[in-house]
Amino acid sequence: MHISRSVGDLRKHVAALKQQGKKIGLVPTMGALHEGHLSLIRLARKHSDAVVVTAFVNPTQFGPEEDFDRYPRSQSHDMHACETEGVEIFFMPPVEEMYPSTSHIGFTINTLDEHLCGATRPHHFPGVIQVVNKLFNMVQPDVAVFGQKDIQQYKILERMRDEFAHPVELIRAPIVRDSDGLALSSRNAYLTPEQRSKAPMLYQALHYVGMRIQKGDTHLINLIEDRKKTLTENGFQVDYLQCVDEEELQPVSEPEPGQNYIVAGAVYLGATRLIDNIIVEASDRVK
Ligand code: PAJ
Repeated sequence: MHISRSVGDLRKHVAALKQQGKKIGLVPTMGALHEGHLSLIRLARKHSDAVVVTAFVNPTQFGPEEDFDRYPRSQSHDMHACETEGVEIFFMPPVEEMYPSTSHIGFTINTLDEHLCGATRPHHFPGVIQVVNKLFNMVQPDVAVFGQKDIQQYKILERMRDEFAHPVELIRAPIVRDSDGLALSSRNAYLTPEQRSKAPMLYQALHYVGMRIQKGDTHLINLIEDRKKTLTENGFQVDYLQCVDEEELQPVSEPEPGQNYIVAGAVYLGATRLIDNIIVEASDRVK
């Protein structure tokens, strides 16, 4: 595995792989790799001949009050995990390499970041667009893999790919969960044992709402309020718990049969923010 810390070196090594006729798969991450990330790497491997993993904690997608400084960093663990997965290039640039000068160009997102995480983290998705746009230009991959875990990110990146005409195929990877349902996340490392034991309640709430939608329930407002109340009573601070349509990510209170919906939630346990979602198809069978 080649470890690259500069853009020039990255480009040189990617070019060499391309010259050998290899199809390039990109997996962007912020490091602190867990099984969820590794599943993306394995999926990238299936769809390409050479995998490039990037591990960069991107400062521009964190707000001033957020956890950029304390975000978990585990470079030697990450390198070892990638080596074991047979990754060809591991890119871990310092901040100055990704942002050598003050940025004069910003991004705005319409509609897609009005709700869910975008509502309380307004700086977040413009920062994600900025860094992924750079990574696409630096690597020029044939395919790039992102997780459903960050479904709003995925939808926005899909739109970015189309609107900026990036010639890359995006692949969406399913969410990897612990045996009790908790979606794996680098931030789970912050949880105390007590918080960790409560954390799967987020998935349980989403699962319950999803199950009601699949059974044809069209009155989601009370249903969702009840779930929020239960979470709050159990020590969660609920940022949002919402059902949105799969295309525009707009809140829906009366799902239509045959349509797909995303049931998504973000909660705080202490200072730790957890997100999760499920995608369900509504039915007209009220049971
Ligand atoms: P990060 O949070 O490190 O996640 C990297 C990728 O792993 C994302 O595509 C995310 O959706 C996926 N992922 C995280 N947890 C997962 C799980 N439990 N199952 C499956 N996939 C999972 O997302 C980012 O980094 C950044 O915003 C980034 C795209 C790298 C831009 O900085």
